[in-house]
Amino acid sequence: MSSSKIDLVIFGARGDLSRRKLFPALFQLDKAELLGDTVRIAAVARQELDSATFIEQIGDILKTNLGDDWDKTVWARFKKRIDYIRIEFSEKEQFNALREWSDKDRTLIFYMATPPSMFGLICKNLDETGCIDKKARIVLEKPIGHDLESSKEVNDTVGQYFPERRIYRIDHYLGKETVQNLLALRFANRIINSQWDNSCIDHIQITAAETVGIEGRWTYYDGVGQLRDMVQNHLLQLLSLVAMEPPNKVEADEIRAEKVKLLRAMKPINQKNVKDQAVRGQYAAGWIAGDPVVGYMEEEGSAADSSNTETFVALKVFVDNWRWAGVPFYLRTGKRMKEKVTQIVITYKDNPHAIFADDDSEANNRLVIRLQPNEGIQLEMVSKKQSMKERLSLEKRTLNLDFHDSVEGGRIADAYERLLLEVINGDQWLFVSRDEVEASWQWCDDLLQAWADKKVDTKAYSAGSWGPSKADMLIENDGRSWYQVETDSSK
Ligand code: BG6
Repeated sequence: MSSSKIDLVIFGARGDLSRRKLFPALFQLDKAELLGDTVRIAAVARQELDSATFIEQIGDILKTNLGDDWDKTVWARFKKRIDYIRIEFSEKEQFNALREWSDKDRTLIFYMATPPSMFGLICKNLDETGCIDKKARIVLEKPIGHDLESSKEVNDTVGQYFPERRIYRIDHYLGKETVQNLLALRFANRIINSQWDNSCIDHIQITAAETVGIEGRWTYYDGVGQLRDMVQNHLLQLLSLVAMEPPNKVEADEIRAEKVKLLRAMKPINQKNVKDQAVRGQYAAGWIAGDPVVGYMEEEGSAADSSNTETFVALKVFVDNWRWAGVPFYLRTGKRMKEKVTQIVITYKDNPHAIFADDDSEANNRLVIRLQPNEGIQLEMVSKKQSMKERLSLEKRTLNLDFHDSVEGGRIADAYERLLLEVINGDQWLFVSRDEVEASWQWCDDLLQAWADKKVDTKAYSAGSWGPSKADMLIENDGRSWYQVETDSSK
């Protein structure tokens, strides 16, 4: 439980993120008695509203969204923490209300649940009204820019008011329990870490497939695309956690330094290799879970006759270092795919010599790390068939570690619960450093440039499929195939 005196200020308190993620996460932390008595919340937005009305509205939203997790007693306690403060972000004098509300003894945390274009203005007005002291922290949501240069501008702007150690950049994937478990899996298990390199591993796949489309964000998304929306942040974070060297300690600086090193070791995809190593797709109409869905260009808000924005990306990536030389990392992510699944699959090499008559390549050991849904780990092993009829035949069996079996409180916490807790505790280990942001933009910029130079068009794929056939060719040309996990939606 946090014992520090914290004043959490949420800018954009009436926005989608606040309603869907931040307030539910804070409520859950309170319910789990992790918030302490002293945390206060200032909900800041532009609308003219009094605190009582805001609290009533948030109460209704939480009640509806939390279902069985709603708790009247917790709500009675939680709502006392909240004050609503109306601020028009461009009106400097209005920030005085915040200074009056806050208390010098306490640590202020400014959570920017606003578009990034607001970060600079809000910081400036906070500064000029004396709201920022030497303890204050700031939390930034993505996107941090849309390329390397613009990310530097955002970071420079915020950096004028806050030193790097007090800037918390969110990548919500780092808040997922299963993503943190990558550290435990890799570095607390000798059996795993002793086999984690190019002498034992054939290749690694990282898939983040979504069934949702662009959810009413056509205009925004069309200027962004799946590479910037998912790869630059979430997939490269997963890749760096899977492939980085062991940090000396589980401390923010140590972990972040290893991730940066890994990101900088990624071999660029450029004009020379872009056609062999990268595929772009865009969904056409199709079916998802038995229902018809429209194509990207027919989505609500579509403002153009045609668009070359990708809603799907598949990549073959190499990491140029001692450990991973020659091991391909296949990454894919897309909207409107067949199933919602995020998984990392490690395929081990064949044995150096086959002594069993029916030993075949299908029998490779595989480690399947299911990040969502059905969180858990599966290890595919080869075992003798339990049969007297056969002398010694082999079959594939699976060891299954299901995280739902052992989770405290019966539910896996949402990523934002963990992230808010760590900001309150002042621990940066699950936040992204400026160097990481810049290294990943640098890599994505090269790829975007190569797509532009080579005029690479998106390939159509049907909604409800696993992406364009070129994505299958990307991996099948190497004699491998995408691994499909059977998901069980009942969990
Ligand atoms: C966000 C992207 O960062 O992550 C969305 O902007 C995407 O487009 C979402 O849908 C996916 O998150 P999750 O946790 O559902 O995998």
